Amino acid sequence: MLLILKPRTLVVSSAALFVLALATAACAGGPGDAEKIRAGSQIYSQSCAGCHGDAASGRGAVPEAASHGPQGHTWHHPDQQLIEIVLGRLDYPGRKMPSFEGQLTEGQVEAVLAYLKTNWTADQRSFQAEVTRKWEDQ
Ligand code: HEC
Repeated sequence: MLLILKPRTLVVSSAALFVLALATAACAGGPGDAEKIRAGSQIYSQSCAGCHGDAASGRGAVPEAASHGPQGHTWHHPDQQLIEIVLGRLDYPGRKMPSFEGQLTEGQVEAVLAYLKTNWTADQRSFQAEVTRKWEDQ
């Protein structure tokens, strides 16, 4: 089979593969991301939207619950801290946010975060990625 392929064909197909790889990396950040984001969006609608409202605009949120969209504050926090807040491992005075420990796994919370990130601006996403990376280095 290889014998009948001309070298030129091989060059073209590896260039096409390279472009495909670049496009995948640029859009989603890795295989499985689309699935994760879809799962996160479902969890958000079921467990979070009732208080936090629409994930992008915050419309429909209860007064005390911050929007997770670009206007909110969520994108200032590293992933690890957000996971701790959602799973109730980070307590603070007057906390009204329920803990999802025992109801959601860490992986499911990560999926929700992956979904929330799709609504942030490119600048917010890269700022938050940097904050997350620095937190990991500590
Ligand atoms: C019963 C209402 C309620 C539900 C349901 C709820 N939250 Fe919250 N959440 C709040 C309130 C109120 C706050 C504001 C801080 C506080 O009072 O604890 C908050 C704060 C937060 C914060 C910290 C503030 C920030 O920086 O964004 C995060 C993160 C968060 N919620 C994520 C979630 C996620 C993810 C879900 C779903 C899995 C969820 N919340 C479900 C009420 C809720």
